[in-house]
Amino acid sequence: MPKTMEDSDGLPLFAFQDLDYIPSGFGGILAPYIETTAGTMRAAATLMRLGFQTEEDDKKGGNETLIAHQEVVCDLGCGDGYFLISLLAHISLLTPLALPIGLGIDYDPSLIASAGIASSLQKVNASWLIYNFNDDREDLVSQLIDKHQVTHMFVYLVPKQLALGTVRRILTSLCGSGVVVCCHKFYPEYLTPARRDALMELAVYDESS
Ligand SMILES: C[S@@+](CC[C@H](N)C(=O)[O-])C[C@H]1O[C@@H](n2cnc3c(N)ncnc32)[C@H](O)[C@@H]1O
Repeated sequence: MPKTMEDSDGLPLFAFQDLDYIPSGFGGILAPYIETTAGTMRAAATLMRLGFQTEEDDKKGGNETLIAHQEVVCDLGCGDGYFLISLLAHISLLTPLALPIGLGIDYDPSLIASAGIASSLQKVNASWLIYNFNDDREDLVSQLIDKHQVTHMFVYLVPKQLALGTVRRILTSLCGSGVVVCCHKFYPEYLTPARRDALMELAVYDESS
């Protein structure tokens, strides 16, 4: 029997590292890697309003045209990139001129290596960063805003992580800078959602709306 891993509080972690596949639909709150499903991904894209956005041509007349905005979508805790790559492909299918950019962040180098290979094979425009946001030693917020110009962020983290001071600062600062943040299943108590999809367990924090 493999030794059961424990978290910093001595609670047992589900032993995903001993499996040679990624379980889907596992709902425990201590699992380190749970993949978000395709249905949730599409709902998240809709709730974040990714893709073309409308802009009024003539304010008085109310005419609207579709215009492309450069959207840079970050997955904070991206795993092997499956979710982010699918999301980028979904946006490109819906709106072929949108050309979204992705940035995936994870502290597990093997998952980031897999993500890099998968994004090259699937020809999506994404970059991948090995980084531990629990420590946040290099000020992630300024990197995301100034260097990567992130416009949207997807977050699927357990409640203990969302409550960390570092994660709280990252999410609060990003929202305050106009980044649209979407959380799945677990929600930060310090932010107020602008929109929700209760069925898909999604909440969007959007200070511009
Ligand atoms: C629940 S999975 C979500 C994966 C993907 N975003 C999705 O929705 O399918 C959480 C991911 O966060 C990563 N993660 C957890 N803590 C992290 C930390 N402190 N720094 C960076 N990545 C972390 C894990 O390695 C895991 O891949």
